[in-house]
Amino acid sequence: MLMKFYRKYGSVYRLWLGKQLFVVISNPEDIEFFLSRPENLSKSASYKMLEPFLGKTGLIISDADIWRVHRKQINPSFHSKLVEKSVPVILENGQILIEQLKIKIDRPDFDIRSFVEKCTLDTLSGAKNQLPFLDLLLKKSNFTEEEIEDEVLTIMFAGQDAPSTTVSFCLYELSRNQKVQDKLFEELKNSSIHEKSEPTFHDYTKLKYLEMVIKETLRMYPPATIIGRKIDEDIVLPSGYVLPANSLANLFVFNMQRDEKYFSNPDQFIPERFENMENINSFTYLPFSAGIRNCIGQKFGILEVKVLLSMIVLKYRLLPPTQIEKLTLEFGVVLFTSDPISLRITSRKM
Ligand code: HEM
Repeated sequence: MLMKFYRKYGSVYRLWLGKQLFVVISNPEDIEFFLSRPENLSKSASYKMLEPFLGKTGLIISDADIWRVHRKQINPSFHSKLVEKSVPVILENGQILIEQLKIKIDRPDFDIRSFVEKCTLDTLSGAKNQLPFLDLLLKKSNFTEEEIEDEVLTIMFAGQDAPSTTVSFCLYELSRNQKVQDKLFEELKNSSIHEKSEPTFHDYTKLKYLEMVIKETLRMYPPATIIGRKIDEDIVLPSGYVLPANSLANLFVFNMQRDEKYFSNPDQFIPERFENMENINSFTYLPFSAGIRNCIGQKFGILEVKVLLSMIVLKYRLLPPTQIEKLTLEFGVVLFTSDPISLRITSRKM
């Protein structure tokens, strides 16, 4: 529906839901201006529905004042040096996933999602003390018990769902795009991660095609489809439209990333489009948001997705399901589909 409105009303339009005004924005100039302003930090009311699950003070939900203090305290926990040390924990859980998938070899169509979900959840929860960044967060912060609880729940929620949907949608696309899968397999097979029993963070940074495949997955399936913020005072956008005080701004990331104005053949999975990032306006591509309230877990998320995809693609060939049906995507708190993410797998003969 929101995409239909975009075609009808253009890249900035208003929606009234009861007494609440929503302004939906889908153009890079306005979005860049908006996200670059240090004032626009408070989250829109739609995030409040997460409150019963995540508490009031966690990073995703909290309003500007609490957020500033918490983000400053938590940032060091997500420092690259700590994230890099997470590889063994991800590998360990990835190995369990590989074992669990064995029962699906040469079997009929199945939904890959539940397997991946279990793995990303176990990586965060089962191994809480082994993940260096969570360990630091639990030990060193000056938060109250309640605040720690809210932050841990927030990280469990944000850190589990987005990587898991990214891996699942990526496997879905690879099963339907065999040439992409072959090219990726070749890169992985000839890389140091295939030779070593314990690859390091550095080994994964060399896999350029894998990186493009992940970028393309996040373009077509951004877990956060819309970024919502509360507007405290009137803001004039570069397009000339005004965001009135007390309205809610909705930056429609999904729409931009599927707009043929910015990405040719937007519904086709073409990782090569990311070969040359100079062709891409960074504010048309925002899977991790931008500005100071961007995703804190980006480095860990990408690393986890890289490790799991490499393990699966090296071990199994992904095949399309026998019954191909179109996925209907739903824009909930995160991108979602009620349809199964169906595919088949067979062993790689190496
Ligand atoms: C593929 C992986 C991921 C994607 C695409 C992603 C995407 C995003 C986006 C778009 C936001 C901004 C949301 C908004 O402003 O409405 C965000 C925020 C956040 N993400 Fe991620 N995320 C990913 C992985 C992770 C991981 C692994 C963690 C933690 C381990 C994490 C923790 C968070 C937190 C705590 C926030 C709130 C940050 C703040 O407001 O200061 N994310 N994420």
